[in-house]
Amino acid sequence: MNENENNGLVQREQQQSSGLDLGRALGVGGPEIKEVDKAENFRATVVRLIKYLKPQYPMLIAMILIAGIGAWFAIWVPDIMKKVTNCLADSIEYFIDIGRPPDGNNQLYSYIAPILLTCGALYVLNALFQFTSGLIAASMSQRVVRRMRNDVKQKLDKVPLSYFDATPTGDVIARFTIDIEMISLTLQDSINQIITGVTTVIGVFIMMVRIDWLLSIIALVSLPMLIVVSAVIVKKSQKEFARQQERIGVLNGHIEEMYTAHHVVKLYNHEKESIETYEKINKELKKATRRSQFLASIILPSIKFIDNLCYVGICVGGGLRAGGGLITIGDIQALLSYTRQFAQPIENISNIANTIQSSIAAAERVFQVFDLEEMSEEGSRSISVSECEGRVDIEHVAFSYDKDKPLITDLSLHVNAGESIAIVGPTGAGKTTLVNLLMRFYDIDKGRILIDGVDITEYSRNDLRSLYGMVLQDTWLFNGTVADNIAYGNPGATREEIIEAAKEAHADQFIVTMENGYDTVLKEGATNISAGQRQLLTIARAILKKPRIIILDEATSSVDTRTEKYVQSAMLAMMKDKTSFVIAHRLSTIKHAAVILVMNHGDVVEQGNHETLMAKKGFYYELYNAQFAGVSDENRDDDTAESRFRQT
Ligand SMILES: Nc1ncnc2c1ncn2[C@@H]1O[C@H](COP(=O)(O)OP(=O)(O)O)[C@@H](O)[C@H]1O
Ligand SMILES: [Mg+2]
Repeated sequence: MNENENNGLVQREQQQSSGLDLGRALGVGGPEIKEVDKAENFRATVVRLIKYLKPQYPMLIAMILIAGIGAWFAIWVPDIMKKVTNCLADSIEYFIDIGRPPDGNNQLYSYIAPILLTCGALYVLNALFQFTSGLIAASMSQRVVRRMRNDVKQKLDKVPLSYFDATPTGDVIARFTIDIEMISLTLQDSINQIITGVTTVIGVFIMMVRIDWLLSIIALVSLPMLIVVSAVIVKKSQKEFARQQERIGVLNGHIEEMYTAHHVVKLYNHEKESIETYEKINKELKKATRRSQFLASIILPSIKFIDNLCYVGICVGGGLRAGGGLITIGDIQALLSYTRQFAQPIENISNIANTIQSSIAAAERVFQVFDLEEMSEEGSRSISVSECEGRVDIEHVAFSYDKDKPLITDLSLHVNAGESIAIVGPTGAGKTTLVNLLMRFYDIDKGRILIDGVDITEYSRNDLRSLYGMVLQDTWLFNGTVADNIAYGNPGATREEIIEAAKEAHADQFIVTMENGYDTVLKEGATNISAGQRQLLTIARAILKKPRIIILDEATSSVDTRTEKYVQSAMLAMMKDKTSFVIAHRLSTIKHAAVILVMNHGDVVEQGNHETLMAKKGFYYELYNAQFAGVSDENRDDDTAESRFRQT
């Protein structure tokens, strides 16, 4: 039992650490491992958790009752069994005195058999009740977990994007996985064990007092010793376990770092350092493991030791009292079995105390998600792609991610329906931010953004976003077939439409050469195709969506120059009659744009077409020249210019 408990503990700890490693794997670093995971506001969280369980109250109460009653059946048995012992003891005396009477055995059987049957029945009932309460606990905990996952999901759908910017992905994932899993564990196991344990300790003690109050004092004395030993050692060993887990986490992180960047490590001749670091961490891990193993291994013997002292005490005391005729042999036997039942629940409870503590901490983190501020109310006005003209007005907009660091301070812009706007500017100028605001991924601090003369906050978010098609530098493809990936924004699209869109995006050529064509399954992160091919797929996806307003944020940055020529023509066709915002493209796209916005430090510093901007000899002119410095004049035709004019 003790070993099982400890294994369970290790598993839980490992789950926790694998969650953290997930965070690390995502390159975001998990939350710091603390020695003991404690809730900041324990009591409030417990109260809140109890309130949260409200729909499960009937099940919870049934479970507690059944577990409590079930424990009583087992408590009863020694008390009944003692009659058998007494009877046997009597009959032994009886045999010695008067030999074998004709009805002696019959009497033995008629008296003992029913008692044994009752005991058997009590054990069966005990098992049945335990089984039932376990079933109820499992079902209850699954319900709670499902509800909690749904609630977290629904909440996260309403949380502004800035939360995800500020929160490591691993952290968000941990809420869904280990935190909720932790709570479920407590609901499933710990409550049951506590109810059974507490009932057993109380029940056993009552029984002992009933048999002989003097001898039960021996048990009473051992009780605090048991509690102290299990609490102190278990606590210490859990601390060491946490340290061990932390070291494992560091080791995993190191291994992962070294193997994901295998070639870099080799290239820079860092193998030796890497091995040294590994050995250092490994040594520390060995130390931590030895200590935790040592502590874990002394728990059981220490408890057994106290338990045995108590056992001996009762044997001796019981012998004396029985000799004096104050109690029977059956009483001693019952007391001895009760002593055996005493220690285990206490040890169990101290073992799960930490699990419960961690669960409350986990619940607190989940509740923190529930308390997050939601996005501003969305409008109710509906708009569809076919109704939308695509006129965009930006009026004196101010926005910053961090209120202390102003980014966009006063930006105004008028874009006619169907117009193409190119946005250029150095890295960090705020180009991506501007398009994020257009799609209302963030709420602006000041000013208004209008589409067709209506403030975008009046539209519902879904409708607003349905107007846009976007292709970004970072491609996002999911684990699914090529066709599914293209149809992502348009799940109802037919195979013909998908193929047509892929052809327009010049993706068809490479798709048909793949093993299963459009049904080829893309691996996670689509690592089985090149960066350029991934981008073509996202372009096909945007084409298929047939949006009203198009946003291309460095959309062809990973496509080679030759492919880009095709894609550019496809994109030009896609952009026809549509309002479009094209960020930092190669020159031909920019030149084609009716308006070029030159951004710097969050503001539009210049505006005009290529010729007027060049003639102005201002920021754009500088930017342009800086890009082409060292390229002789005759080489400055569109081709080389295109391939070099890359802004981020
Ligand atoms: N999600 C974000 N949270 C906080 N700051 C951000 C975020 N995204 C961008 N920034 C900051 O805002 C500025 C503008 O970034 P961005 O619009 O992405 O520039 P660009 O696309 O022109 O390179 C940068 O200084 C960048 O560090
Ligand atoms: Mg950008």
